[in-house]
Amino acid sequence: MLEARNLYVVDQPLSQHKLAVLRDERTRYREFRQAMRELALILVGEATRRMPTNSVPVRTPLAQTEVQEISGPVCLVPVLRAGLGMLDGALALLPEATVGFMGLFRDERTAEPIEYYVNLPRNLEDYFVLVLDPMLATGGSLSATLGKLKEEGATWISCLHAVAAVPGVERLTREHPDVHFYTAAVDPELDENAFIVPGLGDAGDRLYGTL
Ligand code: PRP
Repeated sequence: MLEARNLYVVDQPLSQHKLAVLRDERTRYREFRQAMRELALILVGEATRRMPTNSVPVRTPLAQTEVQEISGPVCLVPVLRAGLGMLDGALALLPEATVGFMGLFRDERTAEPIEYYVNLPRNLEDYFVLVLDPMLATGGSLSATLGKLKEEGATWISCLHAVAAVPGVERLTREHPDVHFYTAAVDPELDENAFIVPGLGDAGDRLYGTL
């Protein structure tokens, strides 16, 4: 079993139940989108555990007390396209979050990431950044994303995935020990086209019907 200090496998029954829907080849677009949104809710709940909080005084109807508030703004960064399938769920829990976009696709021949659109907020160093991408395969797309985010100043970064493959996880947890990775499953391998096996297919195509 793969172990890394900055890897969190979110393998509780509810996340596994959502993943079961996502993995099943019979799942149609509508149910696929819904399960991806719901899994994002669970992953955001886990990833926000590490966010620092401030103690704030408040008066309940009965007494004065202290409550905890997340101590800074959050920036969600979906990696296009498939990351968009997690954005709505993440925004449901973090409605005031800023959203930045990383547009990348993998060259089908080389599996290398090609950047086609980047739109990130200024002063990324002020934000808790949550990267959303259902699939971590070779790690090329995420490596490019993390490189860009750090170049723009981000220091607090966590990444949320439905499925991550061992080669990508090994690479990313080693290259970025300061980043935390949350995934509902770690799958053992990649096929000759760099698809995760058993995986769930091409998440972007299954979300948007471009099979
Ligand atoms: C998929 C997926 C990740 C990437 C993972 O995107 O959503 O971004 O591949 O692979 P890697 O770890 O080997 O880089 P894809 O290139 O299929 O683009 P899409 O989301 O637009 O379909």
